[in-house]
Amino acid sequence: MSDTPMIEFRGVNKWYGDLHVLKDINLTIRRGEVVVIAGPSGSGKSTLLRTINYLEPVQEGEILVDGQPIGRRRQGNRWVEESAADLNRKRQEIGMVFQQFNLFPHMTALENVMEGLVTVRRMPRQEAERIAREMLARVGLADRMDHRPSKLSGGQQQRVAIARALAMRPKVILFDEPTSALDPELTGEVLNVMLDVARQGYTMVVVTHEMGFAREVAHRIVFMDEGRILVDAPPDRFFRDPGHPRARDFLGRVLWHAE
Ligand SMILES: Nc1ncnc2c1ncn2[C@@H]1O[C@H](COP(=O)(O)OP(=O)(O)O)[C@@H](O)[C@H]1O
Ligand SMILES: [Mg+2]
Repeated sequence: MSDTPMIEFRGVNKWYGDLHVLKDINLTIRRGEVVVIAGPSGSGKSTLLRTINYLEPVQEGEILVDGQPIGRRRQGNRWVEESAADLNRKRQEIGMVFQQFNLFPHMTALENVMEGLVTVRRMPRQEAERIAREMLARVGLADRMDHRPSKLSGGQQQRVAIARALAMRPKVILFDEPTSALDPELTGEVLNVMLDVARQGYTMVVVTHEMGFAREVAHRIVFMDEGRILVDAPPDRFFRDPGHPRARDFLGRVLWHAE
């Protein structure tokens, strides 16, 4: 196995107009690591996540995925934008699971999971179906494959979305508040599937307020506030004392609300 980090932020800064949303981000995520990104609303967590597959461009610094710069690369003393074809090829290797599950409403669970394999990977339908069935079984939906999203609970829909990401055999899976849209009684089944994905050795970056998941599953917790990474620590240290007043304050609030 290579020592090349799976994800590397080098001196990244990003602005939306005058708003400085990512400030001097330096972050290295190794292969197989599960990193939870925590922080108050508006601190830049989603933006950070979306720069990893270059859904959001950055103005300073660079992001490398598996050793390759994504979105743009330096040539001499200027930046050259990556071609759409190159960018799309890299994006196929980066799975993303959103708060809103983003399934196709007119397709069954099985068809949703097959879609990327058939249209993007150009896989024969039979092979795509075999993989899709395997992935849906893995997330506990063997008996729901022929259901459309409207016939599934939120937790089941999110598990379909995770199966869809896994089917592409990504190098990395990014999760942006995957349980925030769910009723509390449905978050557990989704977190359990994510735990299973983590145990398979996937590199995962997870934006979440679920501190129980962070404590049990994350290798590191990265705390952001106002566009800056203030803490980057293993969970035992983070929960004992994150070492920064803003993080202590945040932790006090989320843990209090979770009880
Ligand atoms: N497309 C956008 N245009 C302008 N401002 C944005 C855009 N997306 C997010 N922002 C702002 O950037 C900041 C960080 O947002 P975001 O990354 O969504 O934070 P978080 O996910 O931590 O809640 C917020 O102030 C937000 O209002
Ligand atoms: Mg967000």
